[in-house]
Amino acid sequence: MRKTTWQFGNAIVAWQKIHGRHDLPWQNTQDPYAVWLSEIMLQQTQVVTVRDYFARFMQHFPTVKDLAKASQEEVMGLWSGLGYYSRARNLHRAAQDVMALHGGVFPRDALTLQTLPGIGRSTAAAVASLCFGEPIAILDANVKRVLTRYFGFGQDLAVAKNEKLLWEKGQTLLPTQHVAQAMPHYTQGMMDLGATLCTPKNPQCLQCPVKENCKAVKEGKPENYPVKTKKLKRTSEQLWLLYAQTKNDDVWLVQRPQSGIWAGLYCLPVFESYESLQAFIKTKSKLDLQDMPVVKHMLTHKDLYLHPVALRLKAQKSLGHGRWFDRPSIPNIGLPAPIRKLLG
Ligand code: ADE
Repeated sequence: MRKTTWQFGNAIVAWQKIHGRHDLPWQNTQDPYAVWLSEIMLQQTQVVTVRDYFARFMQHFPTVKDLAKASQEEVMGLWSGLGYYSRARNLHRAAQDVMALHGGVFPRDALTLQTLPGIGRSTAAAVASLCFGEPIAILDANVKRVLTRYFGFGQDLAVAKNEKLLWEKGQTLLPTQHVAQAMPHYTQGMMDLGATLCTPKNPQCLQCPVKENCKAVKEGKPENYPVKTKKLKRTSEQLWLLYAQTKNDDVWLVQRPQSGIWAGLYCLPVFESYESLQAFIKTKSKLDLQDMPVVKHMLTHKDLYLHPVALRLKAQKSLGHGRWFDRPSIPNIGLPAPIRKLLG
């Protein structure tokens, strides 16, 4: 029998079947709703964190129809703590689009999937290949690392045309045997390789299924890839939070605007200075203000220093825009993680 020649995609598929991950909660399903939900959660969040959120989301909204029907508050409440809240808003809008524009049936190809809010080229390719066997390459951060090393691709991926070129090169590596059945293993295998062996630091090249043809291995320094562009300078910001409570421990919360930090979530009233917080409260009851310990919260490119200021009121009275929440209702509200922690 003639031996088939070595081919990258087929090698990844064979490796994934034996050495890849098989027990993640969003695997072993071809339900595009579940796969899409997991991919959106995994975009900026680690697998360990996503596990629980994914399970709770699927329990509350087992189908795209359930998600589409839910209120924005319910969706944000379940997303609360995962961060990058535009993902949750887009998820909700995409579910509504699937119902309204696609008859409640998920599109089956990457091009159509990409027309849904929050689904970019790589997520569309992930859903189409994992669920429907479409031969199309993904290019998330893990896969960029695998491919730049394999090809010895040293160009700056922040430049759109370079990224496009890497995507085209990635598309040439797809498996060639039993393509429709192979694609889910291939896509998962590329993610698994990036997560388990082809890691940013100390990659385990000896165990890699494609090491023989990897340019970075030949060069001897796989960690040189991907070539990092200028690091964005971190900035910092100070914010003052009014933590108003009644004797019964009810808390005053306001909904954040639909854009900017913590968009659409509930939050303590935010001020850019202590003076503006004081001015806000002046006509109310300035005397009872009390500084609380500063909380540092790191965002992707910014350190936030949060200065909570407590205000004790005897009874509920309106503080303007916003409303009082009793303690039992707080776990179900969409709150930024540091605010949830602060409220205890
Ligand atoms: N990261 C993004 N997608 C993933 C998946 N399907 N499994 C594990 N990690 C991932």
